[in-house]
Amino acid sequence: MRHEEPTSRTCSLTDPKVRAVLDRLHAEAGGQTLGLARLLASFAFDKLLRHEVSVAEEAARLKDLYVCLSPKQGVFAYQAARSIGARRIVEFGTSFGVSAIYFAAAVRDNGGGVVIGSEIEPGKVARARDNIEAAGLSAYVEIREGDAQETLRDPGGPLDLVLLDGFKTLYLPIIRLLTPHLHPGSVVLGDNIFYGQGLQGRLRSAARRPAPSRSSSASSTAGGRWSCPTPRVSR
Ligand SMILES: C[S@@+](CC[C@H](N)C(=O)[O-])C[C@H]1O[C@@H](n2cnc3c(N)ncnc32)[C@H](O)[C@@H]1O
Repeated sequence: MRHEEPTSRTCSLTDPKVRAVLDRLHAEAGGQTLGLARLLASFAFDKLLRHEVSVAEEAARLKDLYVCLSPKQGVFAYQAARSIGARRIVEFGTSFGVSAIYFAAAVRDNGGGVVIGSEIEPGKVARARDNIEAAGLSAYVEIREGDAQETLRDPGGPLDLVLLDGFKTLYLPIIRLLTPHLHPGSVVLGDNIFYGQGLQGRLRSAARRPAPSRSSSASSTAGGRWSCPTPRVSR
């Protein structure tokens, strides 16, 4: 973990190295419309056939797809991390490293810390590391390869911010795993948490347990847009 003096006026998103990598990654992700359409079709078929998709099966489908934060979501993620001075961040689902770059930029501007990423697909881990290196942010990111249900078991300290952006069926187990490491004021961001019936409420109540003295807040994204910032939840 690297520590520096907080540089409140710095915005690493304007750093040419960071900008160049983000622009390239967003452009590549933008060119994956066909792949995304295929993915959505496979979800629809699963639902129709009531097929339970395994983690390995879903990882294989997503192997070459970014499915990353949009530029607007990335800026939101950066600002959320900056606004709470986040220095320790965990993300469930790193893919090619887009969200990790936004968070690492925030952590650097907050004075240093660590973004702990998690990714099950080894090829994506390698590409994410290369991208983060090219952005000059490797000192702030540790990507854990493997199933996040195992790799995030010990995040190594309190967490200021958590991003849930892996398989939706694992959001609850993952937040239960991480809740003991949240503290008053920790923020949990979840992508597409309207995906499953009642997921938003179940996530909120999971994040309330087990320590009654904690509080956290939750925001969500749906349909590709950030929406519904929810009020602070007291525990
Ligand atoms: C939506 S993408 C993440 C996008 C990333 N947050 C970004 O903005 O660039 C979801 C990723 O989660 C990974 N993933 C899904 N389930 C996982 C698990 N159990 N453990 C680790 N990674 C997982 C997938 O392989 C996929 O790359």
